Amino acid sequence: MERKHKPASIPVSPSMAQPVVDLSDNVLTARLPSGDSVTVYLYGATVTSWKTSNGQEQLFLSKAAALDGSKPIRGGIPLVFPVFGPPPKSHATGQLPQHGFARNSHWEFLGKSTSESLGRKTDDSVKLDFGLSSSMLDEALQNKWPYDFGLVYSVTLGRGKLECQMHVQNKGDEPFEFQVLFHTYLAVKDIHKTAVKGLQSSPYVDKVRSAQTFTEEASSLSFSGETDRVYTPPTAEGNTLVPLLVTEDGAESFVVTRDALPDVTVWNGWEDKIKAMGDFEPKDGWKSYLCIEPGTVSSWTKLEAGDAWEGGCAFESKL
Ligand code: BG6
Repeated sequence: MERKHKPASIPVSPSMAQPVVDLSDNVLTARLPSGDSVTVYLYGATVTSWKTSNGQEQLFLSKAAALDGSKPIRGGIPLVFPVFGPPPKSHATGQLPQHGFARNSHWEFLGKSTSESLGRKTDDSVKLDFGLSSSMLDEALQNKWPYDFGLVYSVTLGRGKLECQMHVQNKGDEPFEFQVLFHTYLAVKDIHKTAVKGLQSSPYVDKVRSAQTFTEEASSLSFSGETDRVYTPPTAEGNTLVPLLVTEDGAESFVVTRDALPDVTVWNGWEDKIKAMGDFEPKDGWKSYLCIEPGTVSSWTKLEAGDAWEGGCAFESKL
């Protein structure tokens, strides 16, 4: 006989393997059941390694990078905030070091969220949150940039994908201006065979040619010398930011997407400049990296008291 109020059967779900997250000695590692992994140093909240499930390293990290907190980490994804490049002397950031203080500050780990808690059913992923606020800076830095701010940096590791999101909050009672950039050193097999698509018709400031502005003509930008350019690519219909495509030997290797980050710095120091960098090894390592740095750096973003801003980017590995 059919029961009138028969209880619904409890679905039996296969026990899902969970991401493994470990924090020891101020270094955080996360690994997905698929084998994708990421390593983040709390110093600078710098991602130093991102491997896809085939074990392939996707980021370049100098073998001579200082990993002891004595200077910014050379390679991976150093964070640039609140100023990109040498700070203009007449600006509120004028007393800060090149690229600001985010990359050489000690961040705190705020916690993880897994794909289940993020409501993603199809793809396994883990989101790692890191925080930095004005009270965590040493007194000298607080005096050099005396604003009450809070940053939450989220790194989300997915299958074949790494997302970086920055949340900036003005917790004080006066506005401040900032720039932010994800200084990503992508690992490439040979810079001579590497190209970037998606920059055609984009204006760019060329730091190698006296910071003059040019318009990109190449549909596929290749490299044959020192390159240090800040592109501001035109947006597509609906104001959407166009993805960039990195190719190696003609094959797609990375897709780079952006959210609220209008600029992209493209940097390779090439032979002589890299040779002169004490923390860059091996010396021919310039052949093995390309910095694609999504950011908002061609102008200042003004944040009113109590307001917040958010922007981010994602790197998808295609190889
Ligand atoms: C790039 C800049 O983003 O960073 C370059 O456009 C600079 O001009 C490079 O040389 C590396 O900077 P740093 O401070 O890490 O040596």
